[in-house]
Amino acid sequence: MRELEILTEEDKEALELPRTSVEQENAVGKRKLYIESYGCQMNFSDSEIVTSILQEGGYATTSNFETADVILLNTCAIRENAEQKVRNRLKNFNYLKKKRPEMVVGVLGCMAERLKTKFLEEEKIVDVVAGPDAYRDLPNLLNEVEDGHKAINVFLSKEETYADITPVRLNSNGVTAFVSIMRGCDNMCSFCVVPFTRGRERSRDPQSILKECQDLLDTGYKEVTLLGQNVDSYKWASEDGSENVNFAQLLEKVALVSPELRIRFSTSHPKDITDEVLYTMKKYENICKYIHLPAQSGNSRILKLMNRTYDREWYINRIDAIRNILGEDCGISQDIITGFCTETEEEHQDTLSLMEYVKYDYGYMFAYSERPGTPAAKKLVDDIPEEVKKRRLTEVIDLQMRLSFERNNRHVGKIEKVLVEGFSKRSDDYLQGRNDQNKVVVFPKHHYKKGDYVMVKINEASAATLKGEAVNS
Ligand code: SAH
Ligand code: SF4
Ligand code: F3S
Repeated sequence: MRELEILTEEDKEALELPRTSVEQENAVGKRKLYIESYGCQMNFSDSEIVTSILQEGGYATTSNFETADVILLNTCAIRENAEQKVRNRLKNFNYLKKKRPEMVVGVLGCMAERLKTKFLEEEKIVDVVAGPDAYRDLPNLLNEVEDGHKAINVFLSKEETYADITPVRLNSNGVTAFVSIMRGCDNMCSFCVVPFTRGRERSRDPQSILKECQDLLDTGYKEVTLLGQNVDSYKWASEDGSENVNFAQLLEKVALVSPELRIRFSTSHPKDITDEVLYTMKKYENICKYIHLPAQSGNSRILKLMNRTYDREWYINRIDAIRNILGEDCGISQDIITGFCTETEEEHQDTLSLMEYVKYDYGYMFAYSERPGTPAAKKLVDDIPEEVKKRRLTEVIDLQMRLSFERNNRHVGKIEKVLVEGFSKRSDDYLQGRNDQNKVVVFPKHHYKKGDYVMVKINEASAATLKGEAVNS
């Protein structure tokens, strides 16, 4: 078995991308759509909504961009290099556009929302620009292009949740799926572009969420990941005000869809994750004991400059609550930014010591990248030299590697429930799935198959993977 190294978000993106649409049967006579997604799970989930809207609008999907009539890139703006990746990709399509000038190139998502008309000016190849709340308008925008115009809609909505749209699952393993429960973000973390690209926070009607989960179960799916930038602030009220649902209550409703359906969720915000959520997790076996709780920094002064609205003590209090309520085995992962404005060496050490305290199972780590228009870009100086940011990042990644290795070793000797997602990357004689804590487990396949829950005895651990053997039980 090849060992996977621990990956940063960028590495993961580089490995996984491009994710493309699946080839559709019976596409004769229809215009062919190719869609590629960058960035977070939310964007991947949105591409499934876009595909649904455009299939309704008479398009068929293709996984071959060479023959596509419409190429859409669902873009990310979170860091400078995320945007650079999209610009490079657009350059790749230049030769196609020369060969087939009628081919339409559209950009969607966060970079589209950030740059707006500038995208059309800066990247001549682009015909359509659509922001995250404008996807219902895509069939019209594409028609406008047919008529020879460039088309743009970057209107941000206070209500749009695409609740009634059944996503078309792309690149699906048929076992795990994302379900978007809210959109936008009302926090103003000073480094972050998301509130500007995705607009105000709004929660989706719980009935439509439950229906989507039930439909997934009925078509063979076994795991859903509930998605939002800050799931703990999920809040829905019926129009007459008679029903209110918070995140803990939504989690309970989804857990009750079926004990056979596993539930995950992302992302939790340290300021909002409540004991009620933790007790709900404890109550239901099918809610996975894994929490992604981005810290960003372990130093209270930096957290204040980041406007994260919690300090080190508050974050530690939430970690202690997780450990007290859900036990030592609950998986915890982080996001950390190194080299934020004015961060001193001692403050960086506070991040390392927080990591040691929490003993994270996994992490996504980044060097600070100033984003135009954000509060940090306006009010603070991006004064940490690139090489210092990178060196601190390496220290954080190295420490996380050690912690992941130690945490993974705790599983050795245990028998754990694994949901099989498919063959292992290395060999078809092995299957690969995840345990409760979201860790990849690889084991010899025997008679087991995708979608099975298998009890696996863990024999070996690396920083990234667990290996084991199925046991009869
Ligand atoms: N809503 C999530 C984060 C979404 S963005 C949350 O609040 O935790 C994913 C991660 O990207 C963030 O947690 C942060 O660690 C990182 N990130 C965001 N803006 C960044 C920037 N300007 N530079 C570097 N990393 C950034
Ligand atoms: Fe960005 Fe903060 Fe919102 Fe997360 S909570 S998306 S980091 S503003
Ligand atoms: Fe990127 Fe937008 Fe997600 S900026 S990380 S795609 S919310």
